[in-house]
Amino acid sequence: MLKALDHHTLLKTYRKKAKHYDFYHRTVTIGSDQKGREMIVEKTVKPGDIVLDAGGGTGTSALMAAHVVGNNGKVVLLDLSTYMLDVAKKKAKEASFDNIEFIEGDMYELPFEDNHFDVVLSSYSTCPLQDPGKATLEMLRVLKPGALLGIAHSTVPDNKLMKWIARKVERLIWLFPALSLGCRAVEVLPALKKTTATIRLNKKIGFPLWPFRILIVQKLK
Ligand SMILES: C[S@@+](CC[C@H](N)C(=O)[O-])C[C@H]1O[C@@H](n2cnc3c(N)ncnc32)[C@H](O)[C@@H]1O
Repeated sequence: MLKALDHHTLLKTYRKKAKHYDFYHRTVTIGSDQKGREMIVEKTVKPGDIVLDAGGGTGTSALMAAHVVGNNGKVVLLDLSTYMLDVAKKKAKEASFDNIEFIEGDMYELPFEDNHFDVVLSSYSTCPLQDPGKATLEMLRVLKPGALLGIAHSTVPDNKLMKWIARKVERLIWLFPALSLGCRAVEVLPALKKTTATIRLNKKIGFPLWPFRILIVQKLK
């Protein structure tokens, strides 16, 4: 796994990219990013739920979740970048969602008590982190016992040749934060396997050279 971008470069990158993030991410992932978001939302969120979208960025997953939870539920969108949050706020306003709360914060230290949320979502937000496993444990902490965590993240291809090509491409793109957005293939499964949580779904989807891992994880009851 490549070493993450430093804090300053990461924030600068998302400040510059925020307005065009949705279009750029959809283009470079050939639209498969949306399939990952849809999967984690569909498989976890129910009407009336209190949901955290951790590293929710411009709010695409949060808006989908807000639609499902309805007026009896709530979505909290937390992100490090105020510029990404501004785009999310604008989108929520345009779509007339008033059941989303926006918080500027850090996934490593979620400002919530233990066992708080019915669902926690992370769509591609572990990809820029130096320690994705640590953030995953933090997301589990704030989840209620028996509740679901939905994660989508970039991963490496299974095929040996594809894996070799993907590594070369990743290293090249990594030279330009504006292209990589600080995102690279990560794995959170090793951290999850050390916990009592149950992996309900573990599936790879998307473009063969740049696949996404979809995880649905249930916290022990
Ligand atoms: C690739 S984007 C994903 C955004 C969104 N979840 C989506 O589905 O498109 C990564 C997001 O993680 C955020 N991020 C990076 N490090 C973070 C941290 N330590 N705590 C909270 N958010 C973080 C970035 O600001 C960015 O919005």
